[in-house]
Amino acid sequence: MDKFVIEGGSRLEGRVTISGSKNASLPMMAASILTDEPCIIRNVPRLADIRTMSDILAALGGGVERTDETTIECRPGDTSEVTAPYELVSRMRASVCVLGPLLARRKKARVSLPGGCVIGLRPIDLHMKGLRSLGANVYVEHGYIIAEADRLKGAEIYLGGAFGSSVTGTANVMMAATLAEGRTVIENAACEPEIQDLARFLEAMGARISGIGTPRLVVEGVEELGGCEYEVIPDRIEAGTFLFAGAITRGDLHLVNARLDHLRAVVDRLHRIGIAVYQKGDAVCVTAQDRPRAVDVTTLPYPGFPTDLQAQCMALLSLGDGISVLTEKIYPDRFMHVAELNRMAANIRKEGATSIIIGVPELSGAQVMASDLRASAALVLAGLVAKGTTEVRRVYHIDRGYERIEEKLRAVGARIERLPDK
Ligand code: EPZ
Repeated sequence: MDKFVIEGGSRLEGRVTISGSKNASLPMMAASILTDEPCIIRNVPRLADIRTMSDILAALGGGVERTDETTIECRPGDTSEVTAPYELVSRMRASVCVLGPLLARRKKARVSLPGGCVIGLRPIDLHMKGLRSLGANVYVEHGYIIAEADRLKGAEIYLGGAFGSSVTGTANVMMAATLAEGRTVIENAACEPEIQDLARFLEAMGARISGIGTPRLVVEGVEELGGCEYEVIPDRIEAGTFLFAGAITRGDLHLVNARLDHLRAVVDRLHRIGIAVYQKGDAVCVTAQDRPRAVDVTTLPYPGFPTDLQAQCMALLSLGDGISVLTEKIYPDRFMHVAELNRMAANIRKEGATSIIIGVPELSGAQVMASDLRASAALVLAGLVAKGTTEVRRVYHIDRGYERIEEKLRAVGARIERLPDK
C-alpha cells in the first residue's frame, strides 16, 4: 500500500492534460459483449478500475489488449461464459454493467451482487426492474443476480427511484434494449455525459437510439451489432478536481482536453465562490486570488452539481469566508471525508445528508486516511494548501480513478510524493 506525502503551500500553475473518462470507458467495455467483432476504444485512462473491467471481460471468455498508451481493443472470444464472479465484482461496483449485455447477447447473466460500499447503500433494484420490463426472468440466488431471457422484448420503462435516475441502471437497460425485439422507451433515463457517450458508442456499433442526453431515451432494437472504433470523452470529474486544485491553491491552471460544457453546474458554483473559470483556446482555465466565498451547494443528477465532486468542493469551502451548507441528494452518507478534514483543522458538522462548513482561515497538515476515491482526492486538495506536511494513506482508492495524479500535480508545482506505507 502506498501513501502520498504532501508539503502544503505551493500555488499551482501551468497546463494539465485531462485523461479519458473512467465512467464512460467502463460501460463501453461491457458493451463490447454485445458483438462478436472487436471494439477499439480510444482515450481510455490507465486505471485500476479499467484493469478490473479487463479482468471481468477475461473471466467472461474475452480479451482486452492495450494497443497503445490510450487505446484498447476488446475482443469477445469464447462466448459461452456468463458468470461475473464475486472476487472481481466486489472490487468495483461498475462491474454490474456486464449484466445487460450478457443477458441480451448470451441469453443469460450471472453477476455477483456487489455488496456494501463506503459511500452508502447502493441498491440495484432499478437495473433489475428495467430488465424485468424487457421480459427477462431476474432473481437473486446465492449472492448472484441471475437474469434469463431467450429474446428480450421492447417495453416502456420508468427508471426512476427515490434518488432520481440511475447512471449504470440506464446503461444496463439501454444496452440490453439495443438487441431487444421492437422499441424500448426509457423514461427518467440518466442524462450524464457518460451515458450520452455510451449511447453514441452503441450507435457506432449499429444501435438505433434517439433522445440521447434527454430523460426519454428511445431504443429501436436491431438483430445484431458490429464492432466499432470510438473515442471516449474527457473525464469531467478529473477536470473538476483540477478546477478545485487551482481554486484551493489560488493558482492558475490550464486544463487541456477538458469540456467546459460538461461542468456548467460546477463552474456556476466556482463563479459564486469568486473563482474565475473560462475557456481560452484549447484549455479550460481556472484562476483564483482571494479567499473563497462561502456558498451553498446541493448535489443532483446531471446537469446538477455532481456527487463525485462534492468532497473536493468541501475541501475548498472548508477555507471559505463564512458558513457554507453542502447537501448530498444522491448518496446521503457520502461524508466519510468530514472527520478527516476536521483532523486537518477544518470545522465541519454533519447533520443528516447535509454538512455545515464553518470556514477557517487555514488548514493544518495531518495524517489522514482515504476512504473512497473522491474523498481521497479531497484530502489531497486539502494537503496542497494545509500548513506543513499531510500524509494521505491508502491511496489505492485514488489509483482507481485518477491517472498519475501525483505526477500531474507535481508538473504544475505541487510538492507531493508517493511512498510505500506499511
Ligand atoms: C455512477 O454510479 C458512477 N459510477 C458513480 O461514480 C457516481 O457517483 C454515480 O453514478 C452518481 O453520479 C459509474 O458510472 C461507474 P446511480 P451508479 O445508480 O450508476 C440510487 C465514482 O466515484 N439507486 O446513478 O452506481 C442510488 O442509491 C463513482 O467514480 C437506486 O435506488 O449510481 C443513488 O442514490 C462512485 N436503485 C442514486 O440512485 C438502483 O437500482 C444514483 O445512483 C440504482 C441506484
